[in-house]
Amino acid sequence: MHLLTVADLNKEEIDNLLDRAASLKERHKKGIPHHPLRGKTLGLIFEKSSTRTRVSFETAMYHLGGDAIFISPRDSQIGRGEPIKDTARVMARYVDAVVIRTFGHEIAQEYANYSSVPVINGLTDLHHPCQVLADMLTVVEKKGGYKGMKACWIGDGNNMANSWIEAAEVLGFELRLACPKGYWPNSAILKRAKGKNPAISVTESVEEAARDADVLNTDVWASMGQEDEAQTRTGAFAGYQINSKALTLAGKDAIVMHCLPAHRGEEITEEVIEGPNSVVWDQAENRLHVQKAMLEWLLVDSGAGRG
Ligand code: CP
Ligand code: NVA
Repeated sequence: MHLLTVADLNKEEIDNLLDRAASLKERHKKGIPHHPLRGKTLGLIFEKSSTRTRVSFETAMYHLGGDAIFISPRDSQIGRGEPIKDTARVMARYVDAVVIRTFGHEIAQEYANYSSVPVINGLTDLHHPCQVLADMLTVVEKKGGYKGMKACWIGDGNNMANSWIEAAEVLGFELRLACPKGYWPNSAILKRAKGKNPAISVTESVEEAARDADVLNTDVWASMGQEDEAQTRTGAFAGYQINSKALTLAGKDAIVMHCLPAHRGEEITEEVIEGPNSVVWDQAENRLHVQKAMLEWLLVDSGAGRG
């Protein structure tokens, strides 16, 4: 079993993961030790920078009694061109699961095809499932659940937007995305998701998407790997910002989410990210708890991993 996209999971599996994450979080806060992964090792192969994903996965393994090994292209043979399919088969002889963060989603898929141990997508250009599952835990905590939720996405139709679309597809909540022309989410993902949940929509209008929303969410205008486009994007995305106007449209109880890192003054204002509606720090913390539930499920409950 691999976890490469949110849509790899069904509603029951996501609900179970979120319930388990909540109970592992409570257990951790009470200081109760829980070491089901003693003797297990997680490999982290990261071709892009990371703070949250790397640290939360490594910490998750330590909390669960296991170990983690971080590998970057700079200090491994990956950077010297060893084929991904060879790396995947070799790594599976050492570690019990792998988190991969890379560029093209097809690289993660190829890695998974050749890996006999579970592979978790730690972000590709197309998807960011671990973040969005942590976002769902945050929604459940702050809003009491996702049923009947009206969520709004403002900005780039990027990996985060695609994974939120898949969450809306599987869980059935309303999702309105406001993205500038030319920066809409992946058309195949959108088409399939809308076929299952007609309450997913994309518009160019921030006002339309933000009105009466329970959740306002955004991400950077230029993702990792798009550094060369940053200037063009700054022009295209002007106005696609979570600011006090968007918050007023949404309503005073709306929560403001951002996967981080944030660019204050671009996709979100300083006032809003530091304001009372912002849940970004709890959202970041929830990466840890959701990923602990994910690792336990993949490495213990599903019986996967090396024997
Ligand atoms: N949100 C997120 O994935 O952050 P990192 O890039 O720091 O891992
Ligand atoms: N969309 C951003 C998310 C970073 C966590 C990126 O891919 O760079």
